Amino acid sequence: MTTTTTTKLLSALLICISAIGMASAAADVAAAAHPGCQTRCGDVDIPFPFGIGDKCAIHEGFQLKCKAPKQDSKLMKPFRGDFEVTKISVEDGKAWVKAYMSSQCYDPFTGGMSYSDASANFSGSVFWLSDTDNRITIIGCQTLAYMMSDSYVIGCSSTCDDNDQTPNNGSCSGAGCCQASVPKRIQYYRGYFNEDYNTSKIWRNSPCSYMVVMEDASFNFSTTYLTSRVFNETYKGEVPVVLDWAITPDTCKEPQRNKTSYACVSNNSHCIDNMNAQGYRCQCSNGFEGNPYVKDGCKDIDECLHSPCSEICTNTLGNFTCSCYPGRYMMNGVCVPNKKIGFASVPAVVGASVIFVVLVVTMMFAYLIKERRKLRHIKQHYLRQHGGLLLFEEMKSQEGVAFKIFSHEELQEATNRFSEQQILGQGGHGTVYKGLLKGNTEVAVKRCMTINEQQKKEFGKEMLILSQINHKNIVKLLGCCLEVEVPMLVYEFIPNGTLFDLIHGDHGQQISLATRLRIAHESAEAITYLHSCASPPILHGDIKSSNILLDRNLIAKISDFGASILAPTDESQFVTLVQGTCGYLDPEYMQLCQLTDKSDVYNFGVVLVELLTCQKAFNLNAPEHEKSLSMRFLNAMKNNKLAHIIDGQIKNRENMPFLEEIAELAGQCLEMSGVNRPPMKQVADNLDRLRKVMQHPWVEQNSEELESLLGESSRVSSRGTSTANFSIERRGVMELDSGR
Ligand SMILES: *[C@@H]1O[C@H](CO)[C@@H](O)[C@H](O)[C@H]1NC(C)=O
Ligand SMILES: *[C@@H]1O[C@H](CO)[C@@H](O)[C@H](O)[C@H]1NC(C)=O
Ligand SMILES: *[C@@H]1O[C@H](CO)[C@@H](O)[C@H](O)[C@H]1NC(C)=O
Ligand SMILES: *[C@@H]1O[C@H](CO)[C@@H](O)[C@H](O)[C@H]1NC(C)=O
Ligand SMILES: *[C@@H]1O[C@H](CO)[C@@H](O)[C@H](O)[C@H]1NC(C)=O
Ligand SMILES: *[C@@H]1O[C@H](CO)[C@@H](O)[C@H](O)[C@H]1NC(C)=O
Ligand SMILES: *[C@@H]1O[C@H](CO)[C@@H](O)[C@H](O)[C@H]1NC(C)=O
Ligand SMILES: *[C@@H]1O[C@H](CO)[C@@H](O)[C@H](O)[C@H]1NC(C)=O
Repeated sequence: MTTTTTTKLLSALLICISAIGMASAAADVAAAAHPGCQTRCGDVDIPFPFGIGDKCAIHEGFQLKCKAPKQDSKLMKPFRGDFEVTKISVEDGKAWVKAYMSSQCYDPFTGGMSYSDASANFSGSVFWLSDTDNRITIIGCQTLAYMMSDSYVIGCSSTCDDNDQTPNNGSCSGAGCCQASVPKRIQYYRGYFNEDYNTSKIWRNSPCSYMVVMEDASFNFSTTYLTSRVFNETYKGEVPVVLDWAITPDTCKEPQRNKTSYACVSNNSHCIDNMNAQGYRCQCSNGFEGNPYVKDGCKDIDECLHSPCSEICTNTLGNFTCSCYPGRYMMNGVCVPNKKIGFASVPAVVGASVIFVVLVVTMMFAYLIKERRKLRHIKQHYLRQHGGLLLFEEMKSQEGVAFKIFSHEELQEATNRFSEQQILGQGGHGTVYKGLLKGNTEVAVKRCMTINEQQKKEFGKEMLILSQINHKNIVKLLGCCLEVEVPMLVYEFIPNGTLFDLIHGDHGQQISLATRLRIAHESAEAITYLHSCASPPILHGDIKSSNILLDRNLIAKISDFGASILAPTDESQFVTLVQGTCGYLDPEYMQLCQLTDKSDVYNFGVVLVELLTCQKAFNLNAPEHEKSLSMRFLNAMKNNKLAHIIDGQIKNRENMPFLEEIAELAGQCLEMSGVNRPPMKQVADNLDRLRKVMQHPWVEQNSEELESLLGESSRVSSRGTSTANFSIERRGVMELDSGR
């Protein structure tokens, strides 16, 4: 009960705020276009920078075609490529288009499933999928579907026979319908259904499942979407998608230098950087509205139309002033009669206004106090929701945990109000800002993306465990902030970028095999620690080179636990949100939808291959069967062409035996079936041994001779490892010797 009231309160508050913001821009703005250019196509306004035909758009990227969608149809419609454009907003830099839906239906005639995987590709264009307006939405009774883009795989599963929850009109939370957020900066996606989840057994009640990326505001779940084809019929097979657009890929600093190509040509307009669409666009200044892309497009707003003053309103350029009728004057924003009214009435007027002022002030105070109390309640509510109280209880009982609960204000100050300049990185799970705490401690603050109710409950517990992790190769969680709707995490700041940058960046730096091996070993140790030293084990879930950070001395630190979960302790805990990164996804996880420690092993195998080959895990531009690095690598291994794929920087005779060992190990990690992959501990131990051999081949050799004198048993016990590990090491030494 309290939850809904506070949520309502908060949304009421937000509506208030947005209503204030909109009041100034509410008036309709006619489409402004270049002279001689068409301003409308069908019933859609086409404002500049968009245009129909040659020379009417600001550049080729904004050119639209006005055509009849079907040959027999009279109504013309604007198109950008294959996409019908239904609306363009110059103020918000958005465009609405129609995109196909992906569907999976049972076909009773053939007795099989029929799939239609829709895709949208805006790569190389000025359009990006809006991350704030769209949601990945999946409808179905036994459905697991994903949005695949060039760098993300995000999806969720939806069921109808769950005992706790049944599908409900207007609610999309896992029963019959589920949703996930769209990451920032996506230009390409394809719908994809997991074919192990199909409606072949329940098709009479549920003929089709759907996966769409669509405008959330125009979606309202209805249970009839499950039982019939109403969803497809409602939208006629095409759903509205919101796109963000930018004039050019430059930030505001660049285009402003060259006045001839600068798009914000209107007086009283300025340039703004677009965080999602990479590039800039223009906006009219405060107090003006219209089209900033055309000369004199930004027109003064006549604020007086909304009667903001109590008596006389005078509109000025970009603003307005209030004044009073003759015989009266303005006092503290209120019009009062002139003092020269009459001697006798002065004290009465003064008395009345004093009483009035006192009354107003008292009421305002009372109101403020009430509001503050309300706000505190809201904050406490979130704190409770995120498991904050649980956290506090635990904190009290465990002395010496260096973990701090930060206030929202504190983090706002540290990150300069979450300024865009402070952004360190953006991912599927949130945005990371650089922050400077009082006392000059550098930190990284992660603002999570919205999470669902169940995740919220788990959040506090999970954080508590992360807060207790103390491993030199895992980024330390310093604290968190639970007061806001989406939680924020505060990590130590790691200055030297990611392993991804080190491998794939063009810094011209040589990275020796020894360094690569050390980073691999350190990362493996960290994952081993997560798997074996915590109870229940922690599964990272998204190991990849861009989640391995490097400190000043290039020491590896595992980061980003956004996808991590505690290993499920019973069957009922089923991961409903499947997400990962293309090129790293464990094929078994995609099939079974259950994250295991072996998924981390698989992901780590991909990182090992990246280190060996210096190639990216996923290459969108490669032919179909060569997109994935792991596939190319396994093929090279199978065909004995390892040398072809290994990075030239480290490929030499001396290194070859080590490279073969690492490749062998990576191959084991990339086994299709989880049970055939080695446990993380074994991987870490192998890497450790390889490292030692590489550093001190002679020491190992001597100790080996010594051991062979002492006998087998002491050898095994002194190393405490299996003979399999040992054989790798010895082979390394011997081949190194013969190589000299
Ligand atoms: C549906 O999935 C099951 C496995 O869950 C599979 O055995 C069956 O063949 C699938 N049916 C179709 C029509 O694909
Ligand atoms: C998307 O479009 C770009 C540019 O037109 C093209 O290079 C790329 O191959 C396309 N991607 C896919 C997956 O079709
Ligand atoms: C949802 O609304 C539809 C009509 O729009 C109705 O037929 C259906 O019974 C409703 N479902 C529930 C669970 O109320
Ligand atoms: C969604 O539809 C239901 C009826 O099916 C209605 O009660 C509800 O107000 C609608 N919600 C929105 C946001 O339109
Ligand atoms: C959805 O509707 C479109 C057009 O109305 C049609 O062409 C398409 O076959 C339908 N798809 C499904 C899965 O019903
Ligand atoms: C400015 O932009 C125009 C048009 O794009 C181009 O022709 C010109 O060379 C640019 N000038 C400079 C100094 O970059
Ligand atoms: C636009 O601004 C320039 C200089 O700031 C000024 O010379 C010009 O008259 C202005 N144009 C209009 C229509 O106000
Ligand atoms: C309008 O004028 C008021 C007071 O004169 C000032 O405080 C306010 O900042 C001005 N607004 C704009 C948009 O210039």
